[in-house]
Amino acid sequence: MQKILDAIMADELDALASIPVPESYRGVTVHADEVDMFEGVPHKEKDPRRSLHLDEVRTPELGPGEALVAVMASAINYNTVWTSIFEPVPTFGFLRRYGRTSPLAARHDQPFHVVGSDLAGVVLRTGPGVNNWKPGDEVVAHCLSVELEHPDGHGDTMMDPEQRIWGFETNYGGLAEIALVKTNQLMPKPAHLSWEEAAAPGLVNSTAYRQLVSANGAAMKQGDVVLIWGASGGLGSYATQFALNGGAIPVCVVSSKEKAEICRRMGAELIIDRAAEGYRFWKDEHTQDPGEWKRFGARIRELTGGEDPDIVFEHPGKETFGASVYVARKGGTIVTCASTSGYMHQYDNRYLWMSLKRIIGSHFANYREAYQANRLIAKGKIHPTLSKVYPLAETGQAALDVHHNSHQGKVGVLCLAPEEGLGVRDHELRARHLDAINRFRGV
Ligand SMILES: NC(=O)c1ccc[n+]([C@@H]2O[C@H](COP(=O)([O-])OP(=O)(O)OC[C@H]3O[C@@H](n4cnc5c(N)ncnc54)[C@H](OP(=O)(O)O)[C@@H]3O)[C@@H](O)[C@H]2O)c1
Repeated sequence: MQKILDAIMADELDALASIPVPESYRGVTVHADEVDMFEGVPHKEKDPRRSLHLDEVRTPELGPGEALVAVMASAINYNTVWTSIFEPVPTFGFLRRYGRTSPLAARHDQPFHVVGSDLAGVVLRTGPGVNNWKPGDEVVAHCLSVELEHPDGHGDTMMDPEQRIWGFETNYGGLAEIALVKTNQLMPKPAHLSWEEAAAPGLVNSTAYRQLVSANGAAMKQGDVVLIWGASGGLGSYATQFALNGGAIPVCVVSSKEKAEICRRMGAELIIDRAAEGYRFWKDEHTQDPGEWKRFGARIRELTGGEDPDIVFEHPGKETFGASVYVARKGGTIVTCASTSGYMHQYDNRYLWMSLKRIIGSHFANYREAYQANRLIAKGKIHPTLSKVYPLAETGQAALDVHHNSHQGKVGVLCLAPEEGLGVRDHELRARHLDAINRFRGV
């Protein structure tokens, strides 16, 4: 591994093709024999530092259309939090089912799961049938893994019946020194960013792009009022930038003064601090409070000069969904990709049908959408929202920060990169956007 790192650090990328790939590498794993370790522990007290291990794992054999990538940096996504606390289900079931689909897929079915759905790094090897990528290419990877043997996936690859999220529903993810990806996950690394900055946007940036911008999602247009939950969080920090970049008007919902300040730094003007304003959409576990929906809607109108949201960017789920359906404008769209606070949603359907609103489900992004989202990063139109970076050995703490919502934007992880700030190629473009790139730092 050291030889690989030395070659990357010395900028001798052509040499990588002739340096042997190590038989094993260090990766962050959960263990199949520990899936019951948190039984009876309350949700918030399940601690990823106990379940995430840094193990030596065997390098998987390389199949057709695949690549092994030396991972310089990765990032924490909420899916790693879910995997690490074994909620709503342990991810070993995904690996077992995938493993049954073909002899090659059986590699993924292991008693360990190497997690992580983002990476920035350098291609080490490509499998048979790969022409677009070669050893030495500097890349980022999006997390859509598809087989595309079924007709359904050929209009929109997210519709492939064998669609999986790499590093969550497949093994050999990005929180490791080496990762196994399909080469149709690879995209050029944005040249003006360091490894950890380049790795951070991946999953959430692509998801927010499809959910908000793509015709497969809400198809946002200029002038749209967009209500964004968790506007300084992983998804929200990109949704806010897409709204501003696309001429829409974001109404950012956050839960602290610091998070409100970050939204201002991104250029948002209309901000609701849900903690300071004390919204309680549920009176108790079973009963919502429409009076609170109204108070929330009135606050949005106060900020927008009387307008309701054309689009509600949803992901908190149970806790907010009733309010989201209520506040969307007549004919408006609620677009959802998650249910952090609970997936059994309840809303008053009268407000949906009588006002001709639409609920759209959205999930990750197809290759084209992920590529477009990454292109906007590479052009300096959208910026990483990295707030903090941990070494690989402290991935458990990084995941705990996200689990406890004590983070801002994205939390990065250094894998092979020995320090932050490495890997920048285009210093001129970087200099032009340095303030924006560092917005989330040190908050
Ligand atoms: N389907 C997909 O493809 C996909 C892709 C990415 C993520 N996700 C899912 O989306 C969710 C969010 O991911 P993320 O990366 O954005 O996480 P994140 O970085 O933790 O950000 C989520 C934000 O949502 C807000 N929030 C959390 N609980 C809330 C609640 N009960 N009510 C209102 N706001 C709440 C918080 O902001 P404030 O406290 O400041 O309000 C938090 O910062 C996760 O469940 C994740 O698994 C799905």
